[in-house]
This record gives sequence, C-alpha cells and structure tokens, in this order.
Amino acid sequence: MNFIVRRAQLSDTAALPAIERSAAELFRCDPSLAWLADAQVPDAEHHQRAIETDDVWVAQSVDGVLMGFVSAVEIDNELHIQELSVSQYFQGRGAGRKLLLAAIEYGRNRELDGLTLTTFRDVPWNEPFYQRMGFETLSPAQLSPRLTAVLNNEVAHGLPGERRCAMHLNLRPAPSDPHPTPAQTP
Ligand SMILES: CC(C)(COP(=O)(O)OP(=O)(O)OC[C@H]1O[C@@H](n2cnc3c(N)ncnc32)[C@H](O)[C@@H]1OP(=O)(O)O)[C@@H](O)C(=O)NCCC(=O)NCCS
Repeated sequence: MNFIVRRAQLSDTAALPAIERSAAELFRCDPSLAWLADAQVPDAEHHQRAIETDDVWVAQSVDGVLMGFVSAVEIDNELHIQELSVSQYFQGRGAGRKLLLAAIEYGRNRELDGLTLTTFRDVPWNEPFYQRMGFETLSPAQLSPRLTAVLNNEVAHGLPGERRCAMHLNLRPAPSDPHPTPAQTP
C-alpha cells in the first residue's frame, strides 16, 4: 500500500486519539488484555504538546488519511518510544515498521546512543516485532533507573508487570577490538 511517513504537524493532533483507540482494538484478541481496548487514551492536547516539544511522525495514505503515528522523546542521549499506534483498518500493511524506521533513522542522524521502549513480552506485534527490528530485551540488571521508573509507573496504572519488558536498540558502532589479531606475514 502506498503511504508516506512524515513529521507530525499541529493539524494532525485531532486525529491521533482516534488512531490510538482503534489500534488498541487489537488487544481484544487476548481476553486478559482486552480491557486495554476500552482504556482512556491521551487527548488531542497531549498530542499537541508532544508535537511541539517531542518527536512525532505520522503515516499518511496517498489519499491523505492518517494511518498511524509514533511518538518519542529524547532523553539521556536516547530516543524513548512512548507510543506506536496504527489504526485497525491499516494494520499489517507495513506502516508500523516504517514509522519505527523513521524514529531509528532520526536517532542515527542525531548520533544518539540508542532507542528504548517498553512493551509486552508475549504479544506477537510487540516484543517479537521489536526484536526483529534489532531491539534487545533488557534483563532487570540492565535496566536504567529511568526505564525502571517507566515500568513501575505502568504497573501503577494496571499493566501486568510480569508481562512487560524494556528494550534497547544500540545505535553506537561496536568498539573496535583493542587487541586485534596480528596480520599473518608470509
Ligand atoms: C504494533 C503496531 C503499531 C504495528 O503496526 P502495523 O502497521 O500493523 O505493523 P506492520 O504492518 O508494519 O508490521 C510490523 C510487524 O508486526 C507484525 N504484526 C503486525 N500485526 C500483527 C498481528 N496482528 N499479529 C502478529 N504480528 C503482527 C508483522 O508481521 C510485522 O512483522 P515483520 O515486519 O517483522 O514481518 C500495531 O499492531 C498496533 O497499533 N498495535 C496496537 C498498539 C500497540 O501494541 N503498539 C505498540 C506498543 S509498544
């Protein structure tokens, strides 16, 4: 399907709550998470502030319909993905992947250390998808205080902590081997 990914504009804000609500309908296929489809989503004012101060991209179909968005915030030289949503009708057509790639490319261009996010471990379009995009799941020992606080806050808002994880995409090139094997001389 033909669509573009571009930076969000203030005129996009009104459409974003409905996209997030529609995206969450996907959770109805897991009875224990179906309540997420009825949970409150951030309002248009929230998205307006995010577009003004953070990093938001939207996917837009060729006929001008907004399909989805990714919202991220730069912190500690990393880009933290706060929300990735594609409305139900447009899911499974590559918009989610392309939105995430836009955030990754932005992080690379800004020479950030990496990207972070929190997500569900055992939901097919969450942790496994991000793993295929190069993200690694962090063990409890690897969690920064910032990510620990994000996970704790999610539990305080009713998410099942044992099913949540934090993930990291490293954008730093691997350091060159300090002890390279000497070249063989003939
Ligand atoms: C996650 C989400 C944004 C993906 O958007 P999308 O446009 O459907 O994604 P894409 O079509 O680009 O597919 C992305 C990957 O997810 C997989 N995927 C998408 N929908 C899926 C589904 N219903 N079941 C299993 N896998 C699915 C695809 O196979 C694809 O994997 P691949 O690119 O490695 O082959 C979308 O499913 C969504 O809005 N979900 C509800 C909200 C949510 O979970 N957001 C993420 C919060 S961390």
